[in-house]
Amino acid sequence: MKFQTLYWQGDIDGRLILTDQRKLPSEFCEIICLDIETLFDSIKTLALRGAPAIGVGAAYGVCLHMKTAASLSLQEALAYLNEGADSLATSRPTAVNLFWALDRIKKTASNFVCQNPEATCNQLRECILLEAKKIDSQDKQMCEDIGRNGLRLIEQNSKVLTHCNAGALATAGVGTALAPMYAAQKAGIDFKVYVDETRPLLQGARLTSWELARNGIDVTVVCDSMAGWLMIKGMIDLIIVGADRIAANGDVANKIGTYSLSVLAKHHNIPFYVAAPTSTFDLSLENGALIPIEQRSGLEISCFNDVETVASGVNVFNPSFDVTPATNITAIITERALIEDVSKKEIAKVVDLEF
Ligand code: MRU
Repeated sequence: MKFQTLYWQGDIDGRLILTDQRKLPSEFCEIICLDIETLFDSIKTLALRGAPAIGVGAAYGVCLHMKTAASLSLQEALAYLNEGADSLATSRPTAVNLFWALDRIKKTASNFVCQNPEATCNQLRECILLEAKKIDSQDKQMCEDIGRNGLRLIEQNSKVLTHCNAGALATAGVGTALAPMYAAQKAGIDFKVYVDETRPLLQGARLTSWELARNGIDVTVVCDSMAGWLMIKGMIDLIIVGADRIAANGDVANKIGTYSLSVLAKHHNIPFYVAAPTSTFDLSLENGALIPIEQRSGLEISCFNDVETVASGVNVFNPSFDVTPATNITAIITERALIEDVSKKEIAKVVDLEF
């Protein structure tokens, strides 16, 4: 991979470096997060985005927060840590990796304090930085394993369609939906990728095409509304998308437009795959109707590059995600296995969120 979306620099007093995804593809620049507020803003404004990347970033975010806790007693520091984690949890509502990573840091901290009541606040900070680094490296490994488990789906001369960005920019590693593509490239398989531009914020056009092209993969951008035409013309063999949250029954929340793609895929008898690590499953939710869907500002639709594209005063509706029913999904590619029967029973067999 020719870039790293996010990484920690230094020790417990270090900093988090992020690729500013708002600026791509015209400019590659990094944000230096020295405090939790900068990270919160980066997540909210999508400088850092994509479910797994948000989770990894949030884990480091708690470490940033704890830089101002050095003088607190251990119990005070634990309460302060929980406050920081809870505030980061309000940055975005749909991707469950955010809450998963924050819970993991909170539990690690509380276990540490229980087991080491005489420890110093700096020792607690070392413990959670270690945990954040573990979440980071596990995410990298999960991406590799998703790539390995999804590799056989991409055959010689396949034409793959993807939506939004579920690649290296959305994770700490090589991505989820794009991981089988990078694995296929490594295996010497020739294939072609179509990517929906992904309105309104153009993650497909701006980000996926940028990272695939930069890594030497044959990629073509199409408007979202062209997907059905490509399918009827025989230009698509399979679809692979990422996920922000997967309910116990296999319903998948992902970027708005994913559901429509799945309906088109079903109609045209094209396999529709979802790639996600087990940290994206939320087994506490029976089905996708219970997944909170982020509503973003209407300005993302009514204004483009500061130019008004909708007459002022006209209503705009901007749900950022939709839910694809399990019945439209051919299989879910996880780091542990390819779940070919997308059902509550099969998901429960593969997903075990203990760490
Ligand atoms: O609003 P975004 O850009 O964070 O939405 C991202 C997506 O919908 C991705 O497909 C999803 O998070 C999976 S990323 C591996």
